[in-house]
Amino acid sequence: MVNRFAAMVLLLGPLGSASALAQDPVPVQRGRAVAESRCAACHAVRAGETTSPVAAAASFTRVAATPGMTELALQAMLQTSHRTMPNLILDADEMRDVIAYILSLAKR
Ligand code: HEC
Repeated sequence: MVNRFAAMVLLLGPLGSASALAQDPVPVQRGRAVAESRCAACHAVRAGETTSPVAAAASFTRVAATPGMTELALQAMLQTSHRTMPNLILDADEMRDVIAYILSLAKR
């Protein structure tokens, strides 16, 4: 899986792997699992869901629909201190996958 992804990034090179990321079903599926296990206590994580369990936490569908939302912007959001998410520690793969999942919601 990882090798396949790496090969794809290599193939696509500088053509913008951010959109490719959200279109590859493998990281998107893994990211959905990460979202459901690590984020769903507070965020509405499913496509089309708008009401989050924690009102202050935006639904992922809304995050994805934010104009100009990119992989980089999401990375910055997840890496900056998230006052209300003290235990949110994602490794690099989980971070990439959950970002792919969130971005994929924008297309539904
Ligand atoms: C304990 C509750 C909680 C958990 C778990 C949680 N979040 Fe959050 N998240 C929040 C709250 C509350 C906010 C808004 C306030 C803030 O930024 O602290 C937020 C904000 C965000 C934002 C910024 C949204 C925006 O438009 O401002 C993103 C992106 C985000 N969370 C992603 C995630 C991801 C991805 C996960 C799982 C890996 C996750 N969160 C898990 C509570 C949570």
